[in-house]
Amino acid sequence: MTQHLAAPAHHPTSGTHTGWWRDAVIYQVYPRSFADGNGDGMGDLAGIRDRLPYLKELGIDAVWLSPFYASPQADAGYDVADYRAIDPVFGNLHDADALIRAAHELGLRVIVDLVPNHCSDQHDWFRQALREGPGSRLRERFHFRPGKGVNGELPPNDWESIFGGPAWTRVEEPDGNGGEAGGEWYLHLFAPEQPDFNWEHPAVQDEFRSILRFWLDLGADGFRVDVAHGLVKAPGLPDIGGSEQLKLLGNDVMPFFDQDGVHEIYRSWRRILDEYEGQRVLVAEAWTPTVERTALYVRPDEMHQAFNFQYLTTNWDAQELRGVIDGSLAAMRPVGAPTTWVLSNHDVTRHATRFANPPGLGTQLRDQGDRELGLRRARAATLLMLALPGSAYVYQGEELGLPDVTDLPDEVRQDPSFFRAEGQDGFRDGCRVPIPWTRSGSSYGFGSGGSWLPQPDSWGELSVEAQTGVPGSTLELYRAALAVRREHPGLGAGDAVTWLDAPEGVLALARDGFVCTTNTTGADVELPVPGALLLASGPVAFGEGAGGGTVVLPADSTAWWAV
Ligand code: BGC
Repeated sequence: MTQHLAAPAHHPTSGTHTGWWRDAVIYQVYPRSFADGNGDGMGDLAGIRDRLPYLKELGIDAVWLSPFYASPQADAGYDVADYRAIDPVFGNLHDADALIRAAHELGLRVIVDLVPNHCSDQHDWFRQALREGPGSRLRERFHFRPGKGVNGELPPNDWESIFGGPAWTRVEEPDGNGGEAGGEWYLHLFAPEQPDFNWEHPAVQDEFRSILRFWLDLGADGFRVDVAHGLVKAPGLPDIGGSEQLKLLGNDVMPFFDQDGVHEIYRSWRRILDEYEGQRVLVAEAWTPTVERTALYVRPDEMHQAFNFQYLTTNWDAQELRGVIDGSLAAMRPVGAPTTWVLSNHDVTRHATRFANPPGLGTQLRDQGDRELGLRRARAATLLMLALPGSAYVYQGEELGLPDVTDLPDEVRQDPSFFRAEGQDGFRDGCRVPIPWTRSGSSYGFGSGGSWLPQPDSWGELSVEAQTGVPGSTLELYRAALAVRREHPGLGAGDAVTWLDAPEGVLALARDGFVCTTNTTGADVELPVPGALLLASGPVAFGEGAGGGTVVLPADSTAWWAV
C-alpha cells in the first residue's frame, strides 16, 4: 500500500479561515448499517465504496466513518482491539485504502473515527496487563486500583458507567487470587469491555500520536475524536458523592469529563496534523456544560470543529432555537472556529421521531409519536440547519426521512447499555437499523444476506429507489438543498446571521442575498414575500395581502428565498 496525500484538487489548501471544513456538509456513515458488499448481513467498506456515487450525487463534501477497526464489537466497534487493523466484518486495510482513494477521486473527503478514551478488553496491552497481575507496568497504562473495604470488595470510587452499573470491574488475578478474594479493579466509563486508558502515561500518548500518523499516511482527511472530553480524569479519581451520576449526553460537571488537561493532548495532535498537506481536521465529540466550554476545544491551536450538541438537544421552538443559534455563534466567534450543526447521529433517536413526540423527553425515545408531524418538522429543521453559517452534519438515512425503529424486539438488540441496569442510552439500536436502498428485495437493497437488525415493513417506501426523482420527497429535498448550498457558497460562510422581524413562532434570518423563514408553529402563517422562492420543505401558497404580495408558510415548514 502506498502513501497518498491526495486531497480533492478544487479545495483551497491553506489558511485557518479558508479550510474546507468551515462550511462543509459532512455525512456520517455508520458502516455496519450503510451497505453490505459481501452479503453477510453486516455493512462493510466494500459496500460503502460501491455507494460513493450516491453520496456524491447527494451533494455532501465529506464522509465521517464510524469505527471499522478490529474489535469484538461489544459496543459496535467503539471497543477497539487494534487501531491499525480493520475488523474482518468490515474488510481489510486494502479496502480502507481503496475506499479513501475512491472518495478522493470523487472529490469527497474522508474523516475516520478515533477512539482514544478507552480500548477493548481484547487489546494486547490490556490482555497482557491482566496476565501479568498486580504490579505489572502495563497496568499503569489503564486505571487499575485495589478495591475498598476489608477485602477490597468495594469499587475504588463511586463512579457509575454511562451504560449503567459501576464504572469499575474487579478482575480475576492470574494466581487465582481474584474475585472476592482480592483482585484489582479497573475503570471503564462505558462497558466493562472498554477499559479507560490512563492518559498521564507517556506510552499512551506516544501510541496515539503514532496511530494518528498511520491514518494520515493512509490518506484520511481527519478524525472525529470519540469522547474527547473524557481522556483526562481529576487527580486522585475523587468520589462524586451525590446521587447525580454519569451522563455522556448531559451537561453536568464531573471529575472525569472536560478536565482542563485534555487540551494539551489536542495541541500536540494539532501539531501533527499541521505537518500534513491537504488540510486535515480534528472534530471533537465533547459533551460539555456550556457552548463556551466546547469552544475551548477549537481554539486556534487545538481542534478544528466540535459537535454542537446543544443544538441537537434543542426543542422545536422558535425562541429556543434562536437562543441556541445565537449562543453557538457567539461562543465560537472569539476562537475563530466555525460553528457546527447536527440533528441526528448513531447515539440518539432520529430527529424525525424526536420531533414527533412531545418536547423534553430526551434523546432516547421509545415511541413513534405522530410520524407525519415528526417528518414535517424534521424536513423544516434540516432546511433551517443548512441555512446557518458553519458546517452541518447529516446522519445516514435522515435524507430519507427515516424514523427511529422503536419496536425492535429485545432479543435482537445489541446496544450494550440496553443490557445494563439503568443505562441511559439503551435504545440506540433504533437509529442503527440498516438503511433501505430499494423498494423490495433482500433487506431492501442493503445486501444480499439479510440485515443484522430487522427492518420495518415501511422501509421499502422510504427507500432511495422509491424517493429518487419524486418531487417533494425527502431525498429530493436534501439533494435540492445541498445543490443550492453549493451554488450559493455564501450560505455556509461567515459567523453571524441577521434576524428579521417575524410573527411569534417564526424565525426569519438573513444572510448575504438570502433569507430563510421557519414556521415552528402548528398553524399556517402569512408573511410578506421575502424574495424569490428557492426551496421549501412544505407547500407554500402565494396571495395578495393588504400591503402587497404575501406568502402562506405552512405549519412546521421552512422556506429559502433569494433576495
Ligand atoms: C460514541 C458511542 C459510544 C461511546 C463509547 C460515544 O460517544 O458515539 O457510540 O458508545 O462513545 O465509545
